[in-house]
Amino acid sequence: MRKLILDCDPGHDDAFGIMLAAQNLDLLGVTTVGGNGYLENVTRNALVVLEKIGRTDVPVYPGHAGPSTTELITAPNVHGKSGLDGPVVSEPKRKPEKKHAVDFIVETVMSTDHVTLAATGPLTNIAAALNREPEIAKRVDGLYIMGGGAYAGNWTAAAEFNIYVDAEAAYKVFHSGMPIYMVGVNLTRQCPVNTEFIEKVRAIGNEAGTFGAELLDFFSHGGDAHLHDPCAVAWIIDPSIITEAYLHVDIELNGTLTRGMTVTDLRFLQTSVPEKDIDLSSTKRWDDPPVGSPFRGKEPNTHVAMRLDYPKFVDLVVNTLSKYN
Ligand code: RIB
Ligand code: CA
Repeated sequence: MRKLILDCDPGHDDAFGIMLAAQNLDLLGVTTVGGNGYLENVTRNALVVLEKIGRTDVPVYPGHAGPSTTELITAPNVHGKSGLDGPVVSEPKRKPEKKHAVDFIVETVMSTDHVTLAATGPLTNIAAALNREPEIAKRVDGLYIMGGGAYAGNWTAAAEFNIYVDAEAAYKVFHSGMPIYMVGVNLTRQCPVNTEFIEKVRAIGNEAGTFGAELLDFFSHGGDAHLHDPCAVAWIIDPSIITEAYLHVDIELNGTLTRGMTVTDLRFLQTSVPEKDIDLSSTKRWDDPPVGSPFRGKEPNTHVAMRLDYPKFVDLVVNTLSKYN
């Protein structure tokens, strides 16, 4: 089983990421970061989820409360005041660890081979860990993020929430040399939280299934929600669930309309917007300025998730939750 540290801001969809990771990977620890909710709430929520699935052996390390350069933006409109509204849950029996998330990430990666990182919240902790010990970029097997979008945002027309909340942290991460696997909203839009999905989860009939369905009942807001975070964890568990393109991505920091955008150079694909049948494996440049031109695209630096095998994803979620008591 691949060794994983999951940095997150639970968050209904983060909760599904935790449940997938705890069952299918060697989950070394969960670290928390301000994002969907305030640090205290998302940390409590991580403890709640792990207790719900009987995995109180997995330690939870609180990290940064928010970005170092801008005010924290939270998403109570999506996740409610607690960050995990919907299911009625009791306060967790366990306390989080005293050690800071960044210390846990750095110490673990520097002492353990083949650790994979996943981040399904703002990248504040990951950037802080890189600032403390740049070597971790070379040592990890990869960083799988739910964040950004190949050609769209959700928090703004251009930017996705996790990147927008701490764009400076994202810039640091994308310029660190760490191998990045980006699950953006262009991918997660292919992962609808519809009635059929929710009822399949509820029909599992155990505590995890009931808890998961109650989370989705709230998160779907009866409408058009998408299950973002577990798509990034699912990619680690079963790489066949996602088809990627290897592209150049950079983070916009100064755009009036585009701050927090993951600017993705689609010129590495053979048409401008990926139609259904485009060959995503092709690295033949399309209509790129000549070598030496200041406008020529930079070399690819990011594995960008482009297509989701949604039925396979749903099966993974249902099969995983079925394995809990
Ligand atoms: O934009 C979606 C992301 O923002 C998800 O990680 C969700 O949990 C929120 O953090
Ligand atoms: Ca999240």
